[in-house]
Amino acid sequence: MERQGKRRRRVVLVPWPFQGHINPILQLGSILHSNGFSVTVVHTQYNPPDPSSHPDFSFLSLPDTSSDYNVLTGDALDFVLQLNAKCKARSRECLAEVMRQQGSDNGIACIIYDEYMFLSEETAKDLNLPSIILRTSTASNFLARTALIQLKTEGHIPFPESRSQDPVPKLYPLRFKDLPFSIFANLENFLQIVSKTSNSKTSSAIIHNTINCLENSSLAKIQQQCQIPIFPIGPMHKIASASSSSLSEEDSSCLAWLHKQSCNSVIYVSLGTIAFMDVKELVEMAWGLTNSRQPFLWVVRPGSVHGAEWIEVLPKSLKENIEERGYIVKWAPQKKVLAHNAVGGFLSHCGWNSTLESICEGVPMICRPCFEDQRVNARYVSHVWNVGLELESELERGEIERTIRRLMVDEEGKEMRKRGKNLKERIEFCIKEGGSSNNSLNKLIEMIMSF
Ligand code: UDX
Repeated sequence: MERQGKRRRRVVLVPWPFQGHINPILQLGSILHSNGFSVTVVHTQYNPPDPSSHPDFSFLSLPDTSSDYNVLTGDALDFVLQLNAKCKARSRECLAEVMRQQGSDNGIACIIYDEYMFLSEETAKDLNLPSIILRTSTASNFLARTALIQLKTEGHIPFPESRSQDPVPKLYPLRFKDLPFSIFANLENFLQIVSKTSNSKTSSAIIHNTINCLENSSLAKIQQQCQIPIFPIGPMHKIASASSSSLSEEDSSCLAWLHKQSCNSVIYVSLGTIAFMDVKELVEMAWGLTNSRQPFLWVVRPGSVHGAEWIEVLPKSLKENIEERGYIVKWAPQKKVLAHNAVGGFLSHCGWNSTLESICEGVPMICRPCFEDQRVNARYVSHVWNVGLELESELERGEIERTIRRLMVDEEGKEMRKRGKNLKERIEFCIKEGGSSNNSLNKLIEMIMSF
């Protein structure tokens, strides 16, 4: 709803250029746009968003030179630091230009930046503009990530394999193996990234794409530690209008296939945009899925299997088995898939967007986390919200088959589905008028209007 009587002010959004970060910041843009703000997206040339999906926004490109970065083989710390450094000068010029064009009384209200684009805090300060941080993962992950620094100082990490199941001091319910380590940077480098992304000095607030009813105590802890307000306004994909910000082409043919399946029968499988597997794991997954005797919809992202282009490495006989009860695509319209009544479970890497999208549709999960926050999310799904099972061991066909049947067929899975439905309803309540996310959003809007 457009706010009457207020002049349309502009917010500048600065995304971190990966799908799991672009989606929430553009959703935030849609939410703010429908609340009366103009939106400018200042983005890198690496993984640029598609302006045609958001005709109401303005887009400005920063001339970074990182387009050849390979997330799987590149040095993560180097990428984070370089991208921030390279974008800095141009970002100031860009925004100064926008400010000139807009005029002094109807200019930029504030810059909202993904925590990984921390250069924006300084840009905002230089231009005398307020700034707000967007954290696209959970509050619990933020606590775990920042705790890594202390755990390192106290000599708890790195930890021996024998301690992997031990609880981490003061981080219930996490075990050492659930800590959000990166596999793209060594510990020292990763801690530098953590420190860069958690030490804001001048930003005015923090937006979290999470919900009070999921993370009350973690949010309260963060609020105790920091002086600026925290706005948990999630799930943003449920509040924003439904435009797609997908960087890959969605194969919607799977929806027609889903229409032919019975209610709650299909297990949907996707490991998101960065996680990967090797050929052996691909084959184990394929056997586990077919042996489960449940229909399945499986996203195999091209390039996500080391040593293969796509699924050409699967034996012919196995492919024939798959065709009997499965459907494989390169990229799915995931939100529509999860909302489809045929889908009864989600085998996921537990990226936060996927986790939130699943929880919001009441779809219970099988968690197969790979790195960073995915491990924290998996632990919360399986041990706090109790709407999923974790695949703890190596990907092995027997274990995959058993876990799918536990979730899709057994009493245990039915109980999870009931809890999932209940959680879905509680979340719906949070985004309605008077609900916690709605209240936080109103306070955020008031703050931006007051700048
Ligand atoms: C990355 C990090 O790996 C993750 O830990 C962090 O929480 C967010 O960024 P990513 O792999 O991108 O995660 O996963 P996720 O957060 O789940 O985001 C993936 C997005 O792509 C979701 O919004 C999902 O709906 C979308 N998607 C995925 C599709 O639209 N189609 C697909 O086939 C698969």
